[in-house]
Amino acid sequence: MDEILRVSNLTKRFGGLKAIVNLSFSIKKNSITAVIGPNGAGKTTLFNLISGLIRPDGGKIEVKDKIINELKSYNIPELGVARTFQNLGIFSNMNVLDNVMVGQNIHFKSGLLQNAFNTKSYRREEEKFRKKAIEWLEFMGIENIKDKKLSEIPFEKQRLVEITRALASEPEILLLDEPAAGLNITETRSLIRTIKKIREKGITILLVEHDMDMVMDVSDWIIVLNFGEKIAEGTPEQIQHNQEVIKIYLGTTF
Ligand SMILES: Nc1ncnc2c1ncn2[C@@H]1O[C@H](COP(=O)(O)OP(=O)(O)O)[C@@H](O)[C@H]1O
Ligand SMILES: [Mg+2]
Repeated sequence: MDEILRVSNLTKRFGGLKAIVNLSFSIKKNSITAVIGPNGAGKTTLFNLISGLIRPDGGKIEVKDKIINELKSYNIPELGVARTFQNLGIFSNMNVLDNVMVGQNIHFKSGLLQNAFNTKSYRREEEKFRKKAIEWLEFMGIENIKDKKLSEIPFEKQRLVEITRALASEPEILLLDEPAAGLNITETRSLIRTIKKIREKGITILLVEHDMDMVMDVSDWIIVLNFGEKIAEGTPEQIQHNQEVIKIYLGTTF
């Protein structure tokens, strides 16, 4: 079986509002899948559910053979799901390298106490993770700015730092929430190449994105949400010709 993620009959309500309604789909290992839909369709809520930030009211999310919504929240990172946020989730007065190392925290074996006394084993571990973080920065092409504060670097690079941090947790599944938001055409093209390169590392990618050129270029599979419901799914070719999708995106050119 080559499915890595399966969502079945998922439901999430906020008060009287149904943000996700009886949603089911599955994701193939090492694929790139885009979740699209108008504002308020439930895309970010879906990511929040898959990353375990919020709990569903009904249904199931399975990563490999584990059911996410039955796990304690502190066990969820160990499933290998990492994410970026629609609004940047980075620390602006920390430098780039430290921001990336925050992503590795779940793998630190030394406890808080050893950390506090800065023991040898802690320092050895930290050195190992620093090397690994630098490797990821090199992979993303931003190793040269590792000592810069986040507030000193351009927005595009801040986005890349956030992705690097997610990668530094060595995920099997990477969730990207609107990674191209705020980027210009050149920066978006470069991001598309980066996302394809990440997939070549064997990582499965799920992304929410409004930039249709990017979605159509990068995705193997597209899931379309509207008012929390799945109204279509298919290849980019199939989605571009789906009448219901065209209706909700009327006026948008694919
Ligand atoms: N924490 C929350 N509390 C109340 N309503 C929320 C919350 N998060 C999202 N919603 C509502 O759920 C719906 C889906 O939101 P969201 O998942 O952010 O949509 P999208 O990311 O597709 O734009 C919207 O109507 C939104 O207002
Ligand atoms: Mg959103």
